[in-house]
Order: sequence, then structure tokens, then C-alpha cells
Amino acid sequence: MLSVGGLAAGMAHEINNPLASILQALQVVNRRLDPDLPANAGVARELGLDLGLVRQYMEQRGLTDFLRGMHEAGVRAARIVSNMLGFSRKSGGECAPCHLAEILDKAVELASGDYDLKKQYDFRHIEIIREFVPDMEPVDCQGMEMEQVFFNILKNAAQALKDRPDASVAPRITLRVRPEKLNAVVEIEDNGPGMSEDVRRRVFEPFFTTKDVGVGTGLGLSVVFFIVAENHKGSVAVESAPGGGARFVIRLPYSRSG
Ligand SMILES: Nc1ncnc2c1ncn2[C@@H]1O[C@H](COP(=O)(O)OP(=O)(O)O)[C@@H](O)[C@H]1O
Ligand SMILES: [Mg+2]
Repeated sequence: MLSVGGLAAGMAHEINNPLASILQALQVVNRRLDPDLPANAGVARELGLDLGLVRQYMEQRGLTDFLRGMHEAGVRAARIVSNMLGFSRKSGGECAPCHLAEILDKAVELASGDYDLKKQYDFRHIEIIREFVPDMEPVDCQGMEMEQVFFNILKNAAQALKDRPDASVAPRITLRVRPEKLNAVVEIEDNGPGMSEDVRRRVFEPFFTTKDVGVGTGLGLSVVFFIVAENHKGSVAVESAPGGGARFVIRLPYSRSG
């Protein structure tokens, strides 16, 4: 079976090389238009060309903006590709009995060290509350994939907490692990701004994002959905209201055969 991860990896690799060429070429174009670089100035002089005027022409005809737009679009595409690779690299492993609380802790650790996240909002400012029911049965799952699931949700929570409505309320994420008859249940809850019903309904759609270009790709939660529902036959849901934080609830069956 061609897994979602395999497909994503194939596409990502195929797109990566031409994309890198485009971005590199753009950089060269920009450099060679720079009137201050001696090599450019030399050639321009030979041709009797005023590079300052060339720059001015480009500004007036909007070419500089187009070049900037091309660069931004390229960077955005590169980010989507790297998200796809991040997902696929970690999938395809064997299922083994796992303790979800341990995987959750690993994901928190991963988020605390995430460079990208630190640039937007340092995860370590957030209070993490753990409500773990002890001595739970292990769950048959693919640990690395589940780590990615929890990481994606935690990253969203941290990003959302940056925009919490009342800055005097300390940012908080509550993690819960508890048993049900057939499932292990994990909850990840934040006290951020929450979301409208329209947004809530769409969060698991691929490429759905409310974030700025370059910040969000809209892939995080679709990856979550695939890993949980497709690969683990579990379920994921979100409860939220504007101003009321968000709570993601993941259910994984203890055993997919039983
Ligand atoms: N904890 C949260 N609080 C508020 N909104 C959230 C939260 N998690 C996800 N969202 C919403 O779901 C959207 C989709 O999330 P995701 O698939 O991870 O893509 P991205 O983070 O790239 O936007 C986000 O853009 C945001 O609007
Ligand atoms: Mg996200």
C-alpha cells in the first residue's frame, strides 16, 4: 500500500530540487541588479548603462514587487514541502505497545526546543499541567507518528496562546491521559483565544489556515487526522469557542485487532 507518508515524501522530493533552483536563481537576479556590487558596476559601465536608473525603472514598473512576491511564494512552497517531509520521515515504522503519557512528554520536549516555534513564541513561557491517570494499559501505536500528532497540536496551542484575549491570564496547556473501556484518551487543552464555529469545523482540512503566509501551511492538523484516523483507526475531535480556548481530544483503541 502506498502510504500517505510515502506519497508526501515522493512529491516533496520531486518538488524540492526545482524549487531550490528557483529560489537560488532569484537570489542571483537580485544580486546582479545591485548597483553597489563592483562586478555589476563594471559591466554596466562597459555598456554605458546607469544601474541606478535600471533600479528606478524596476521600482516604477512594479518589477521589484514581483520579484519579492516570487521569493515569498517560493519560501512558502519550501515550507509546505518541509512539512510534508517532516511528516513522512516519521511514518512507516512498526506498531508497538506505547505509553501515551511518555510520548506526550517527548512531544512537549520537542516543542520546547523547536527553533521555529521559539521565533514566534517561546514554549517555555507556557505552564504545562499534567493530569495523567497512572498505570494505564499501553496502546498499540506507532510512537514517532503519535509524537508528531501531539507536537502539531502543541505547536498550534503555543501559536494561539500568543494571541490570547487577556494577556494578564497566564498561558496554560493542560494535558490529560485517561482510559475508556476500549480507548486510551488524550486531551490537549489551551486557554488561548479559541476559534469560531466556522473555523472549528474546517481545522482538519488540508491547507486550511487562518495564519499569515509563511507562518501557517494548514497541514498540521490534516496530518494529525491522517495519522490518528487512517493509520491508527482512532478519532480526533476539537471543542472550542471564541475566547474559550481549544481542546483537542484523541481516542486510540488499545488494540486495533480487538
Ligand atoms: N489551539 C488552537 N487555538 C485556536 N485555533 C487553532 C488551534 N489549533 C488550530 N487552530 C486553527 O486551525 C487552523 C489549522 O491548523 P493547522 O492544520 O495546524 O495549520 P496551521 O497551523 O499551519 O495554520 C489554524 O490556522 C488555526 O486557525
Ligand atoms: Mg499548525
